[in-house]
Amino acid sequence: MEKKGNAELMDKIVSLCKRRGFVFPGSEIYGGLANSFDYGPLGVELKNNIKNLWWKRFVQQRDDMVGIDAALIMNPKVWEASGHLKEFSDPLVECEKCKRRFRADHIEGKKCPDCGGKLSEPRQFNLMLKTFLGVTEDSVSTVYFRPETAQAMFVDFKNVLDTTRRKLPFGVAQIGKAFRNEVTPGNFIFRTREFEQMEIEYFIPVPKKDIDWEKVFEYWQKEMWAWATDELGIKKENLHDCECESENRAHYSKKTIDIEYDYPFGRSELYGLAYRTDFDLKNHFKEAPYEDKDSGEKLYPHVVEPTFGVDRSVLAVLLDSYAEEGERVVLKIKPSLAPYKVAVFPLLKNKPELVEKAREVYDALRKQFTVAFDDRGNIGKRYYSQDEIGTPFCVTVDFDTLKNDDVTVRDRDTMKQERMKIANLQPFLNGKLG
Ligand code: GAP
Repeated sequence: MEKKGNAELMDKIVSLCKRRGFVFPGSEIYGGLANSFDYGPLGVELKNNIKNLWWKRFVQQRDDMVGIDAALIMNPKVWEASGHLKEFSDPLVECEKCKRRFRADHIEGKKCPDCGGKLSEPRQFNLMLKTFLGVTEDSVSTVYFRPETAQAMFVDFKNVLDTTRRKLPFGVAQIGKAFRNEVTPGNFIFRTREFEQMEIEYFIPVPKKDIDWEKVFEYWQKEMWAWATDELGIKKENLHDCECESENRAHYSKKTIDIEYDYPFGRSELYGLAYRTDFDLKNHFKEAPYEDKDSGEKLYPHVVEPTFGVDRSVLAVLLDSYAEEGERVVLKIKPSLAPYKVAVFPLLKNKPELVEKAREVYDALRKQFTVAFDDRGNIGKRYYSQDEIGTPFCVTVDFDTLKNDDVTVRDRDTMKQERMKIANLQPFLNGKLG
């Protein structure tokens, strides 16, 4: 197998994404919109599989977690209280010659990396994406698209508490879009101005000693690793913990560990874990929003926040599973993530009896799985075409099928083929796909 891990890999992934319908450049027929991307038919399946697995694992299968789905635009007072209007900024420098702008913390030296021109002194650039609500001149108000999904989990804290009667510790989770006016978006879907997050705010009693929050923090660190390796199938050796220095931490965080991934453009953040203390709840609620039922004590719970970028998950999964083996390109993604779980082929396109039988198999499997149907070209090409998009199994209907009601099942990873009765297909796939 050819070893990946080079700059070329990124180009190959971007090209595969466009060619096969995972991710397209946004607004392409109008010349595009810088750093905006659309998920195509296969991309949306992959992305939904990731989001659904995350929701199942962290919300539905846990006793101590509930979910919400809040508005993207919130009252601007939220962002005043959270500190985002004041603090949520990146240091920006501008080249005095070519006028290009860079994040000061992403470049070394005082010269423009593009033209060598002199760079300005850094100034803080707020990342909040502004828009306006209201239809008439005198009624419009400035509002902001949320830069993180997190704040709604704090703002809705009391509503969640009153409706679910949760006791500490418990978590609130949300999946949704976030928007940031990034100074230097780039590297495909790695850093965009519109992206998606899966976030958990895990509320704990006021820690008496550091160890009280530290052990929760360590627990979530392990959970995040388990998610990335067990559910997404990302190789351990490509993941790293990196503790943020205090000057690089967000304004609300007392401790942050980034889980970084070895992207072809360098090691960089995949996920983040922060100890937000009681910073957010204290800023939003004048009175302590939680009452301990046993002691009657009112308190501001503290928060440990595991946060997961959806788009970076998609990118890491694609990069990590991409392989070139001889003539074929294969995405060795976990079957649970694959856009199509199985593909069905009639051996020959121009034999109506084969096409009809293959359609029958296809229709039966579709009741339970996402299934592709392909009757173009020769079988070898069809296998390679499915390998490239990560389909774990291909089923071929041939002339023997018409006599014996059996089919050939081909495995993506081993490329081994086995003969199987149609009646056994569903249990076989259930066993393999879970
Ligand atoms: N609530 C905490 C928070 O928002 P963050 O580290 O700023 O923390 C969380 O963002 C995650 O969102 C990151 O780990 C990353 O996966 C993703 N993310 C952040 N900015 C992004 C961007 N511009 N494009 C794509 N994903 C981004």
